[in-house]
Amino acid sequence: MSFPPAIRRKFWGHDFSSPVMLASGTAGFGEELLDLKCLSGVGAVVSKAVTLKPREGNLPPRLLETPFGLLNSIGLANPGVHHVLNCILPAAAALPCPFLINVAGESVDEFADVVNILEDSSVHIGYEINVSCPNVAEGGTAFGVDPEVVLRVAQGVSRVTDRPFSVKLTPNGGDIVQSAEAAVEGGASAVTVCNTFLGMHIDWKTGKSVIRRKVAGYTSPALLPLVVAKVWQVSNAVSVPVISSGGVSRGEDVLQLLAAGAQMVQVGTRLMRRPFAASELMDEMKKLTGE
Ligand code: FUM
Repeated sequence: MSFPPAIRRKFWGHDFSSPVMLASGTAGFGEELLDLKCLSGVGAVVSKAVTLKPREGNLPPRLLETPFGLLNSIGLANPGVHHVLNCILPAAAALPCPFLINVAGESVDEFADVVNILEDSSVHIGYEINVSCPNVAEGGTAFGVDPEVVLRVAQGVSRVTDRPFSVKLTPNGGDIVQSAEAAVEGGASAVTVCNTFLGMHIDWKTGKSVIRRKVAGYTSPALLPLVVAKVWQVSNAVSVPVISSGGVSRGEDVLQLLAAGAQMVQVGTRLMRRPFAASELMDEMKKLTGE
């Protein structure tokens, strides 16, 4: 790798003018951002997680802004794979950038079942397999911390698609390097490092968690050094590209993650305040590198 890292990237055989991907759960299926015309600078959009059956998600309160970040406990709310396939993906064809579908499941087989159904669409270039949601009882973090389960999920997905897929890993327990290696052994074409960190906010007046499900996923620019360390560890251990996720608020953060070994860099929470974040990050990176 040369330094400073190049902004233009090659990923999964596609040329990307921007390394910035919109992280799952922060851009829906891209449709609202398309309407708002704020996809400039976006290299790719990753959809909200899709499961076999529709899910209402967790009961509220399930979102809380903290002084330095955001707690989320959405619980994989989504309309289910059949609705996504028939009613949402046709509109996603209008996106001006590549599209990846984030897939979640309650059992090892469900991941492959959902992917198998989505194979009827030609809109997406690949998948992000979500074995790391901290806000569900089945199929989330409990899967991601166990390399044996990660291997079986990846093998199942490999059997039903020829499209590339990334496995989104958890920072919450287990050994992320071992889980990454298991994903690659199972056929993953990338790994996403990483999902949200466990967090909690307790109301000191009542002693109760403000979030209904108590512990939630935390995102914050302050997590950048933690994500950099995990990206560096994983990218030194596996042969497939690493997609970073977490901690980005400035162009120099994206460049640092690329220098740590990420091939693409997801931005998420930043979009909640700044829907044009990708374009702003690109402008900052171009100024910094002169590219
Ligand atoms: O609660 C959620 O839907 C979060 C999902 C995730 O972090 O993967």
